[in-house]
Amino acid sequence: MESRIFSGIRPSGKLHLGNYLGAIKNWIELQDKPNTERAIFAVVDYHGITTPFNPKTYRQQVMDTILDFLAAGIDPKKSLLIRQSKIPEHTELAWIFNTITPVSWLDRLPTYREKLGETDGKYNHVGLLDYPVLMAADILLYKSNLVPVGEDQLPHMDLTNEIAKKFNSMFGQTFEPVKPHLAIGARIMSLQDPAKKMSKTPSASSGQAGDEYIALSDSPDEIRDKIKKAVTDSGNEIVFDPAKKPAISNLMTIYHLLSQNSVNEIEKKYGGKNYSEFKSDLAEVVVNFLNPFQEKRRELKNDLTYVEDVLMESEEKAKIIASSTLTEVKQKMGL
Ligand code: TYM
Repeated sequence: MESRIFSGIRPSGKLHLGNYLGAIKNWIELQDKPNTERAIFAVVDYHGITTPFNPKTYRQQVMDTILDFLAAGIDPKKSLLIRQSKIPEHTELAWIFNTITPVSWLDRLPTYREKLGETDGKYNHVGLLDYPVLMAADILLYKSNLVPVGEDQLPHMDLTNEIAKKFNSMFGQTFEPVKPHLAIGARIMSLQDPAKKMSKTPSASSGQAGDEYIALSDSPDEIRDKIKKAVTDSGNEIVFDPAKKPAISNLMTIYHLLSQNSVNEIEKKYGGKNYSEFKSDLAEVVVNFLNPFQEKRRELKNDLTYVEDVLMESEEKAKIIASSTLTEVKQKMGL
């Protein structure tokens, strides 16, 4: 079957290794598959404003995320790169979906509950609750059937399918089922708390903000420092056992995904060695992996006209698909 791929990332803060290993790495693999009919990757800036943001720097953050996509290997000859807010059909379709989505489908979702908790209920606005409906609109607007995401997004994928089914049953067959595409790195954990996913938001239990994640833009020294400070489990052996040794297993997953070594090979290589030897090697693996990415990013930063051109061209093409779906939806609804 031909794949029509869509995925997105919020431009909130710096992209980190969790975003890369859980999502972008897969995007790059999928854009090259022969049965990929189209691939669209978005900076979801309307989603990004559901949590605190700075209007003075937001535009820059959106551009920074686009630079990250390109530097990581998204190829504009194979994929479209878009900014969600430049294509108003996303929010139009979200509004339509709002009218068929019961509130009870939304207020039980774990990400909503987590976000409410993180901000002490301070940002309890309709947008936060409605966030997954806009996500369903992002995906279905392009009649996508494959969505490469990390594990935390699975409840949103289920919701997308529920909304599609309900729309089809009310107004006639329009949307196909959508499948998530999960990576092995679908859940990279925080360096400070292996029970929590790696995220840009610091947890109350941990030390300094920023020590929890490795940003794609971190300098070699920052990377070495963060890995050195990463929490480890009791004992001293380098063995992969996510249940009993969640911290070292998480670090091994990162090592495995960024190098050519399997988890087994890593266990063998570090048999008899201690955590600090393993950690200093891991730091070099990460530094070496990020070096070409950072180099490419610097080049792109000096060629913003090229980046703007890529966006304009992609958004124009995406808009054609978006408006055709919206016209079909409106016709079916008598709008
Ligand atoms: P966001 O911006 O939180 O994260 C972007 C992508 O990175 C993945 N991810 C992780 N994967 C593994 N380990 C981690 N620690 C980790 N942290 C983040 C996420 O699973 C995600 O794939 N709602 C989405 C954005 C969105 C979207 C869409 C995604 C909006 N519309 C349509 C797909 C399709 C979000 O907040 O992702």
